[in-house]
Amino acid sequence: MAQNGTIENGLARNACPPPLPQPVKIPEIKHTKIFINNEWHTSIKGKKFPTINPATGVKICDVEEADKADVDEAVRAARAAGQRGSEWRLMDASSRGRLLHRLADLLERERAVLATLESMDTGKPFLHAFFVDLDGSIKTLRYYAGWTDKIHGKTMPVDENFVCFTKHEPVGVCGAIIPWNFPLLMFMWKIAPALACGNTVVIKPAEQTPLTALHVGAIIKEAGFPPGVVNIVPGFGPTAGAAIASHMNIDKVAFTGSTEVGQLIKAAAAKSNLKRVTLELGGKNPCIVFADSDLQSAVEETQKGAFFNQGQACTAASRIYVEEPVYDEFVRLSVERAKNIVIGDPLEPRTSHGPQVSYSFELLSVFSSCVQIVYVFLLLGQIDQHQFDKILELVDSGKKEGAMLECGGCAVEDRGLFIHPTIFSDVKDHMRIAKEEIFGPVQCIMKFKTQEEVINRANSSHYGLTAAVFTRDIHRAMSVSAAMEAGTVWVNCYNALHAQAPFGGYKMSGNGREL
Ligand code: NAI
Ligand code: MG
Repeated sequence: MAQNGTIENGLARNACPPPLPQPVKIPEIKHTKIFINNEWHTSIKGKKFPTINPATGVKICDVEEADKADVDEAVRAARAAGQRGSEWRLMDASSRGRLLHRLADLLERERAVLATLESMDTGKPFLHAFFVDLDGSIKTLRYYAGWTDKIHGKTMPVDENFVCFTKHEPVGVCGAIIPWNFPLLMFMWKIAPALACGNTVVIKPAEQTPLTALHVGAIIKEAGFPPGVVNIVPGFGPTAGAAIASHMNIDKVAFTGSTEVGQLIKAAAAKSNLKRVTLELGGKNPCIVFADSDLQSAVEETQKGAFFNQGQACTAASRIYVEEPVYDEFVRLSVERAKNIVIGDPLEPRTSHGPQVSYSFELLSVFSSCVQIVYVFLLLGQIDQHQFDKILELVDSGKKEGAMLECGGCAVEDRGLFIHPTIFSDVKDHMRIAKEEIFGPVQCIMKFKTQEEVINRANSSHYGLTAAVFTRDIHRAMSVSAAMEAGTVWVNCYNALHAQAPFGGYKMSGNGREL
């Protein structure tokens, strides 16, 4: 999700770059409670859950666990804050814009703290969090701050002697359920447009990564948003998440996560109050590399697309189709590049590849540094499938189904949840690694002969989120990108996402558009 490009762009903004930003020492996590009405609440059932640092396996802290009753409280607060005659509803549109700018200012002030928290909670490298997640979050707020007073209706010359016009009103209470791969950025993608239009929000961060959302709760209050406009309910999917999706007093739900849960959310919305639904789900995104492309650049871009955020991105470049004459060279260069990736402590500036996210599980707090316990429970089938385990299982399937393992293919020994950047060549379309979303650092390279063949193969997926085309031929770039069944198609680049452009998928990658 390289909003505004990349870390390199961030570093290159000045001819003489300033010293690299540094992680902040966080002696104690301040915000671990449920945020309703601009106040901090303990869970009604008195439950807490731990959040784990996946680089070390050690618990960072416990967080108050919201369940249905807490969601009900949050919805009551959001409903009251947004009702006709409320401070929020009467506020000038331009003042809403100033509040969003103020929130962006506070994010700038807290940038290093938030990037540190994000890195600790997700395992993503600190500099990625600082230059990509924080940059995108701040820009999203500023972009929507500009929209607040530019949301117009229309006048229509209807027949006979009438004046007819439309007027845009807030939808009401917007529920949001977000994932753990870009916790802060997804938080802003959800709240910024909702607030710009005068809605109120009840948002559930992912159970693996609640910390940046809660820190933002404090600065939402500091920015001056009226109580109840944004309410944050940390908790689990089947409890707090399901309560949002099926709530009779929530008017819209926006979800980012797995296709499987997206289906549950749409069903729950249909069965409850027919609330509006926006879904941003999985991807199995094809890249097509033609023989006439700038090969070195295609290698770089596709591999950054595959391995960025340890492959934990709905936009992950996971099917790379390379034209026959340059296939061998492409594989060779990709492997060479993958072997130079620096795996390590996410807080170290040199690190470009951190661990996979870890599952938050209550018992882990008891055995916090004992990662093996997770496997025992997995074997007993007592917890959801862990991302780490899912990835290694898919890698194994690739080996068994006969793909050529070029590098990686295993966990980093003696360390938490790290997986070596992995490349398979000679991947066939029927293999599981070519069809299923892996959500890990696995690049699958395939060979193709003709343009028509590769278009059909690229489109033969239930997903349709993003795609990329690499070629120097402008005619081919235009015609092949037009043929892609994908919400976003990049030409000679990857993961270029911007607050000013819409984002979303065809087919089972989702409904509606973000941003
Ligand atoms: P998930 O879809 O279960 O979790 C995403 C969010 O949905 C979390 O906040 C979770 O608490 C919530 N949730 C889970 N079950 C729910 C339910 N029944 N009702 C309401 N909310 C619910 O994704 P998970 O289990 O973390 O990852 C599984 C796979 O999903 C990944 O391996 C990846 O393939 C895909 N995924 C895709 C993402 C994307 O960016 N599109 C993000 C996260 C996961
Ligand atoms: Mg799940």
